[in-house]
Amino acid sequence: MWYDSKHVEIKTPKEGYNFIADEYGKHHNHLDSFDRWFFLRFLPRNLDNINIIDLWAWDWRIWKFFKDKPIKKYTACDISEKLLKRHPWTNKVEKVICDLEKKLPFEKEIYDVVLSFFVLEHVENLELLFQEVYKILKSWWQRIIWHFLQRREFLRKKDKEIFKIRLYNHRLQDIEKIAKNNNFIVDSFPITEKNTTIWYIISLRK
Ligand SMILES: C[S@@+](CC[C@H](N)C(=O)[O-])C[C@H]1O[C@@H](n2cnc3c(N)ncnc32)[C@H](O)[C@@H]1O
Repeated sequence: MWYDSKHVEIKTPKEGYNFIADEYGKHHNHLDSFDRWFFLRFLPRNLDNINIIDLWAWDWRIWKFFKDKPIKKYTACDISEKLLKRHPWTNKVEKVICDLEKKLPFEKEIYDVVLSFFVLEHVENLELLFQEVYKILKSWWQRIIWHFLQRREFLRKKDKEIFKIRLYNHRLQDIEKIAKNNNFIVDSFPITEKNTTIWYIISLRK
């Protein structure tokens, strides 16, 4: 078990997100208020028959943007089995439990779009992750969207327990460098609130 300097317990993402899985809906409106306007404009215009993978899918927050679109398949991938259980299943949805600190259990070049929102900061080994994402993406027109940044762990509370979920404070320039070293074309877009940049959308194209 890990603790911070004030003796607050720091849970791993798997422990932490499993623990709060039943509170999932609480954050949707807040997160949606940002996504709705930004991430859609980075997607290809034509979503007909495309294969999407959501690395760190959480519950169904992102799926709801795609559920009525003519996509071919949506793969929801997450380390928390309790969160994935809450993700809706249809014949277009595939759910896969996976740890993004390890090699991904997918074939080469099968996805058109890879999404990852509010999650890069939970992963220590970005080098491996970017290599793996490069492998599973199809060549040329496809792009990936990363959604970012969080500097400190939130203090969370549940059942009288106070804890944090482990974060790594990756700098934008390091992420861009790792992406470029792994052959991606990188575009970063700062998102500001009250004149302060609070995160970036990072679009990576293969
Ligand atoms: C803040 S949530 C974001 C969820 C979703 N992308 C969204 O924007 O609504 C972070 C998610 O990352 C998952 N996660 C964290 N570390 C992971 C890892 N190493 N492998 C796979 N999933 C992980 C958690 O279980 C959780 O569902």
